[in-house]
Amino acid sequence: MASLLWFAHFLSFLLFHLHFQAGSSLPFSFNSSSAPMPCQHDQSLALLQFMKTFSIRSNASSWDFLYPKPYPKTESWKEGTDCCLWDGVTCEIETGNVIGLDLSSSLLYGTIHSNNSLFLLHHLQKLDLSNNDFNQSQIVPQFGQFLNLTYLNLNHSVFEGQIPLEISYLPALVSLDLSRNYDLILETSIFNELVQNLTQLQQLDLSEINMSLVGPSSLMNLSSSLTSLKLSECQLQGKFPDISHLSKLVLLDLSYNNFSGEIPSSFENLKQLYTLYLYNNNLNGQIPSSLGSLKELSSLVLFDNDLNGEIPSSFGNLKQLHTLYLSNNNLSGQIPSSLGSLKELSLLILFGNKFNGEIPSSFGNLKQLDILDLHSNSLSGQIPSSLGSLKELSLMDLCSNNFNGEIPSSFGNLKQLGMLYLHNNNLSGQIPSSLGSLKELSSLILLDNNFNGEIPSSFGNLKQLHILDLHNNSLNGQIPSSLGSLKELSSLLSSLVYLDLSNNLLHGRIPSSIFKLANLSVLILSSNKLIGEVSSAVCELNSLEILDLSNNSLNGFIPQCLGNFSDNLSVLHLGMNKFHGTILETFSIGSNLRYLNFNGNQLQGRIPPSISNCINLEILDLGNNNIDDTFPYFLETLSKLQILILKSNKFHGLVKGTFANYSFSKLRIFDLSNNLFSGPLPAKYFNDFKAMMIFDLNMKYMGAPNYSSYDYSVSLTLKGLEIELVKIQTLLTSIDLSGNKFTGEIPQSIGKLESLKLLNLSHNQLTGNIQPSLGNLSNLESLDLSSNLLVGRIPMQLTYLTFLEVFRVSHNQLEGPIPEGKQFNTFDNTSYEGNLGLCGFPLEKCDNGERQQPTSSKEIDSKSKIGFGWKAISAGYGCGVIFGIAMGYVVFKTRKPTWFVRMVEGEGHRKLKRFSN
Ligand SMILES: *[C@@H]1O[C@H](CO)[C@@H](O)[C@H](O)[C@H]1NC(C)=O
Ligand SMILES: *[C@@H]1O[C@H](CO)[C@@H](O)[C@H](O)[C@H]1NC(C)=O
Ligand SMILES: *[C@@H]1O[C@H](CO)[C@@H](O)[C@H](O)[C@H]1NC(C)=O
Ligand SMILES: *[C@@H]1O[C@H](CO)[C@@H](O)[C@H](O)[C@H]1NC(C)=O
Ligand SMILES: *[C@@H]1O[C@H](CO)[C@@H](O)[C@H](O)[C@H]1NC(C)=O
Ligand SMILES: *[C@@H]1O[C@H](CO)[C@@H](O)[C@H](O)[C@H]1NC(C)=O
Ligand SMILES: *[C@@H]1O[C@H](CO)[C@@H](O)[C@H](O)[C@H]1NC(C)=O
Repeated sequence: MASLLWFAHFLSFLLFHLHFQAGSSLPFSFNSSSAPMPCQHDQSLALLQFMKTFSIRSNASSWDFLYPKPYPKTESWKEGTDCCLWDGVTCEIETGNVIGLDLSSSLLYGTIHSNNSLFLLHHLQKLDLSNNDFNQSQIVPQFGQFLNLTYLNLNHSVFEGQIPLEISYLPALVSLDLSRNYDLILETSIFNELVQNLTQLQQLDLSEINMSLVGPSSLMNLSSSLTSLKLSECQLQGKFPDISHLSKLVLLDLSYNNFSGEIPSSFENLKQLYTLYLYNNNLNGQIPSSLGSLKELSSLVLFDNDLNGEIPSSFGNLKQLHTLYLSNNNLSGQIPSSLGSLKELSLLILFGNKFNGEIPSSFGNLKQLDILDLHSNSLSGQIPSSLGSLKELSLMDLCSNNFNGEIPSSFGNLKQLGMLYLHNNNLSGQIPSSLGSLKELSSLILLDNNFNGEIPSSFGNLKQLHILDLHNNSLNGQIPSSLGSLKELSSLLSSLVYLDLSNNLLHGRIPSSIFKLANLSVLILSSNKLIGEVSSAVCELNSLEILDLSNNSLNGFIPQCLGNFSDNLSVLHLGMNKFHGTILETFSIGSNLRYLNFNGNQLQGRIPPSISNCINLEILDLGNNNIDDTFPYFLETLSKLQILILKSNKFHGLVKGTFANYSFSKLRIFDLSNNLFSGPLPAKYFNDFKAMMIFDLNMKYMGAPNYSSYDYSVSLTLKGLEIELVKIQTLLTSIDLSGNKFTGEIPQSIGKLESLKLLNLSHNQLTGNIQPSLGNLSNLESLDLSSNLLVGRIPMQLTYLTFLEVFRVSHNQLEGPIPEGKQFNTFDNTSYEGNLGLCGFPLEKCDNGERQQPTSSKEIDSKSKIGFGWKAISAGYGCGVIFGIAMGYVVFKTRKPTWFVRMVEGEGHRKLKRFSN
């Protein structure tokens, strides 16, 4: 969310500077008709001495959008010259007294002590030391000695400690800015003194200093002369005070505090108000309709509060309104159509509320509208075609609503549109080919709708397009080869960096023109009906980070060059196709590959040792092929490997585990099922799987590094269900060795894997007893030992497994009473069938009345460490569960200075498949 905050700051900055001429310029006029007096000697000395207190440090002043480019103003100060001509120094013409000192953004670094010669400049009227680094200086009491000071600005210059009472002794002060000194503290008594004493004050900015001790009622004492009051991020809290006496206020910024209660309707007395920022507080109740009488209001920014009710229709009277920013509240009802009469409106941002009904068609009158963001509401109906007349619009975000119908073809008139986000609605029909005339369009996201028909070939004209995401629709036809011509006219370079057409009905071959998009970073064409071979021309895409062609009907050989064509490649997913031949042998040193998935093809031969060059590999899934090989010990060198899936191939031979320590220490999922492995279970590895021994409470999902919307997926058998895990929780741990020819006993070392959730050893030839140390696996949710040759009793210790939901020991040679209590009361006959000697619930009572009960329930509870449970799993990667709020921001440069492209929060992104076992 940090980027969002940044965006908010950026906006407020923009608005403030574009539309609020601070009115602060103080009168320092020169009288050109009389000869100015030169600088007074003592003051010249004081300045030179002051200068010597500091060093120039290149990082002492920030240079961002809030500040001009810093430079060392004091470097022009030379002894023996008239100080009135020095950079940053202003003198009174008649007397030559230094009355102004502006050393803002001057790269000064050093400490200001109370003996500093600065305090000898008694005549100062204006002092600006903002944006330097005063090395955690205190604001010393001597700052209170400038009797004629009207302007004091120490913002963002690394002062800390208490603000001294003496600041309130500056009787002439008109403007005071101490903001952005993050470790400054302002106490209640001093604040009260300040507000009572400084009766001339017009501008007060104490943003981002610690005022947590100041009660909101103190604000009621502020001088009614104030025109600008900024107390953003001051840790203020409590009920909103009545400040209706501040009737001259033009700007009021109380954002990022903890104010609660309602917005007082007495705000209507602030008739001059031009900017009102109350965002990011805990304000609740309705927005007072009286705000609609603030005729001068230009910016109303109330996002991130708890406001409810409707937008007052009186807002239609705010004829000067430029920005209406109400996102992330609980507002509801229809959006009043009166807003359509706000001719000056440029930003209308209402996302994250509960608005319903349709978009008023009157919005077509908002000729100045630049940003229309209504995403994540409950709006419905058709998108009014009148929106096509918003000639200034650069961003339209209507995603995550219930809109239906088609995209109005009038959208082809939105000549300034840079971003069009309509994903996650019920839109249908064909995508209008008129969109192809949006010359400024840089990102087009239509995923999760019901669009059908073909992808318009006119999209080849979108020369600025960076992101095209059409996945999860019903688009058919072929991928238009014109997409390959998406090149910026200026550079002849491809502009497209992100292309996702997955989960549609696209057929035919992948047009080779796509492989000419040299800047493409993400190419996702998975889950379509694409056919044919993938030509080695794909390797011309040497900026690719993600290549996902999975779940199509592609065939032929996998181009050898894919092993080393792009230094950036982190995801290579070709699973569920019809590729044959051998696995690439060309993985090169320095590979960035993190995810490699060839599951579900017809690959043969061996695993090439060059895979061990992919030292960043986290996931390797080669399951469901025809690989005929012994266990690939060389993978042990992949120290980041978390998931290894080799299931359903023709692997054979022993799995011994090597003598190296800590091999596979990050491994969490180890699936060798349905192969021909033989010999004893890999007891050595059970000692090495450190990641299955510790509890990582930090639940995350595994995904591609730069694209938060791309989640790694693998398919696994979980608790008897074959599931494509569309998101992989880092908490999931599993060992599946079922369906092999393992022999011998279950080793005791398996009991060390305390965070293991799923263990399947079924369909082998295991002998001996069920290892009682399995009772240590206190997080186990599924234990399948069925179809082996196990003998003896079911150990009573298994009752410690309080999360166990699936338990299978059927088809062994077990005997004796089944343990009772806890989870064992929930398993039915099928768990036990095919064992001649078992008895007790749910089977028949034991002949001799023998029972196995746990010793004490306390012991059991102390064993269970962290719950996970089926529900948690399905919520994590469940069908249709929204994929979380994590939004990646990608920055692109386009027409506007900098754009923040919100990447998608896709839903049902990559589907969940379930087959009954
Ligand atoms: C500027 O100087 C002229 C002539 O000396 C004088 O008449 C005028 O009042 C001065 N103006 C100010 C603002 O001091
Ligand atoms: C600024 O530069 C100095 C040395 O030139 C360095 O010690 C200091 O850490 C830097 N400060 C920041 C915030 O980068
Ligand atoms: C910065 O502050 C530290 C700690 O107070 C002090 O040791 C150091 O001398 C100061 N540096 C300058 C240049 O004032
Ligand atoms: C000013 O005060 C500081 C801290 O008390 C001291 O280190 C410094 O020497 C003094 N400077 C002068 C010029 O007296
Ligand atoms: C402060 O301003 C008054 C009135 O303009 C003036 O008489 C006085 O000399 C000034 N004091 C200083 C220290 O400049
Ligand atoms: C800090 O002061 C400068 C004037 O030197 C002003 O331009 C800037 O907007 C102020 N910054 C903040 C964050 O208040
Ligand atoms: C400002 O406060 C100081 C200290 O409380 C007091 O001595 C002084 O008289 C006050 N000045 C004004 C103008 O109220």
